[in-house]
Amino acid sequence: MTELKPFRIGPIEIDFPVALAPLAGYSDHAFRSICRQQGAAYCTTEMVLDRCATVRRGQQAILLSRGPDEHPLAVQIIGTEAATMAGAARFLAGEGFDVIDLNFACPVNKALRRRRGGYLMQEPAQVVAIVEAVANAVDIPVTLKVRQRFADDDSEDAFWRIARGAKKAGAAGIIVHGRSVEQKYRGSADWNFIGRVKAEFSGTNDWTVMGSGDVLTARAALAMLVETGVDAVCAARGAIGNPWLFRQARDLAAGRPPHVPDLTEQRRMILQHMDLAVDLYGPDKAPRIMRKFGIKYARMHPTPKAVRMAFVAVRTPADWQAVLDRYYGESV
Ligand SMILES: Cc1cc2nc3c(=O)[nH]c(=O)nc-3n(C[C@H](O)[C@H](O)[C@H](O)COP(=O)(O)O)c2cc1C
Repeated sequence: MTELKPFRIGPIEIDFPVALAPLAGYSDHAFRSICRQQGAAYCTTEMVLDRCATVRRGQQAILLSRGPDEHPLAVQIIGTEAATMAGAARFLAGEGFDVIDLNFACPVNKALRRRRGGYLMQEPAQVVAIVEAVANAVDIPVTLKVRQRFADDDSEDAFWRIARGAKKAGAAGIIVHGRSVEQKYRGSADWNFIGRVKAEFSGTNDWTVMGSGDVLTARAALAMLVETGVDAVCAARGAIGNPWLFRQARDLAAGRPPHVPDLTEQRRMILQHMDLAVDLYGPDKAPRIMRKFGIKYARMHPTPKAVRMAFVAVRTPADWQAVLDRYYGESV
């Protein structure tokens, strides 16, 4: 048994310290609903471009779609200019999101070329200016997601300037991904660094430190909490195809064996996920979105290769149902 404490982001109390990370292309309303059902108490949307934040149609409306009771929920914004980021934050706070999270971590080339996301790890003063503008623009908590450094051989100097500056500028907390921007998702995350960040700010109650990187299982979530002392951890790739991770983490923390879903339960979950995706995207688009989840769900099946191939070939919700009937047992 590992006694885990609730954590806070500003005034918001969150009952369990294993959260769902922002995941572009994955952490939509459908997937968040499923993770929440399995015990994820805090979730973040995928990143939204600041100048598109006020658009309420098409893909953008889907991206910002959320449930009426979906709280607490952070919305993540990516951008470059303080005034535009602040405008987006003000609008989204008015829409009812609970926390504004700012992305200074994205390593995707398109973002770097446009001086967004991880690119800004090279411009600490600009990051702090953005945090200050956003914190002044909204009356909900603001957090920022940062990596350890930009290039593999950079010092940690930029990180510390950003972290200290953001705290002073009014941010409520920081999410630390223990990799460099250059490293993207390769290699392992530096948990020792994440622990050092928590230790550096350990005397402060009003500053939440969350860890990200290699929280691939429920056991890893608890291990990061214990080893680094952070207030909370974020599961990202580990939750895709295993939304039970959150329930398993709660089990382990309570000293219970972690719940292992049988095929019937997997079937129910995978069907429910498709239903929620159809509600969100419509029957034509949902199968395309769901195929990449199917590939991950297949990992839990006794014949993962065959199931993966079957999910990849899905074109319609009926095809999806047929894969489940074939590999997960007929519905009763
Ligand atoms: C497909 C994918 C999409 C992601 N999208 C975002 C995003 O929109 N915003 C963000 O801050 N991080 C994003 N991340 C990073 C994750 O939130 C997380 O920090 C990273 O994957 C490390 O955690 P992990 O090793 O447990 O997967 C993404 C990661 C992946 C794999």
